[in-house]
Amino acid sequence: MSTLETQKKTQAAVGFFDRSIRRKRNGIIKKWAGMTLLIGVFMLALLSLFWGVLSRTYQNLPVLGVIVVDFDSPTHEAALIGPAVLRAAESRNNLRPPRLGYIVKPPDEYPDGEMQVRRVVYEQEHWAAISITRNATGRLEDALRSGDESFDPDSLAEIVFAEARDESVTRNYLLPYLDDLKSEVVRGFSEVWIPKAVRDEGLRRNMVRVPLAVNPGFGFRMVNLRPFDVPVAIPAVSVGLLCIPPSPSPAV
Ligand SMILES: *[C@@H]1O[C@H](CO)[C@@H](O)[C@H](O)[C@H]1NC(C)=O
Repeated sequence: MSTLETQKKTQAAVGFFDRSIRRKRNGIIKKWAGMTLLIGVFMLALLSLFWGVLSRTYQNLPVLGVIVVDFDSPTHEAALIGPAVLRAAESRNNLRPPRLGYIVKPPDEYPDGEMQVRRVVYEQEHWAAISITRNATGRLEDALRSGDESFDPDSLAEIVFAEARDESVTRNYLLPYLDDLKSEVVRGFSEVWIPKAVRDEGLRRNMVRVPLAVNPGFGFRMVNLRPFDVPVAIPAVSVGLLCIPPSPSPAV
């Protein structure tokens, strides 16, 4: 028998379930099962962290603090805009979660006005802030009385937030709930403002020239202090959530 023939014989092909390779086959199956188990345990462990992070999301939403600073009321004896916002924010606080946590702050705490409020959000003391401009009600009445066609309803109040602080929290939780608040505020305001404007001769005269000063009357300028607009960074920040310990919750 030549060497070549011997080689052919020893290398004859056999099936995976052939008896002659039973020990080898069992070894392979054991290794495969062990590795699969290891991967499974590893994935479940990591996913559990993710589930844990998200399991109490709605109950925890009130920790997302939004301060409300009314610079309007102290400057006008019959202010309407500031009180309308405060009423809506306080009524939201009485709802069961999911809701945001609104914190009404006295305007004297921010002597530098809206810029100082923006700074508080920029420095991440609170997740968002709503400020109502000084004498917003007076400005609205003036615009309607004088028929000021350049009147911009969104110049009377602003909502400040910093999207890049956490883009998924901002987009999934903060902004949708703030939108709800906005509609509630504007609805509540129309109920007091439109009857007042219709009854007052001075206000009624120019309604046709400045319809926006009647409805909506005022709106909110959305100020995003740190936009997050680099989609390619999303994998890094969202996977990073698995490893970064939660930051201490802001004061409610
Ligand atoms: C607020 O606006 C009204 C109407 O323009 C004006 O009469 C009043 O003096 C203003 N108040 C302050 C504190 O600026």
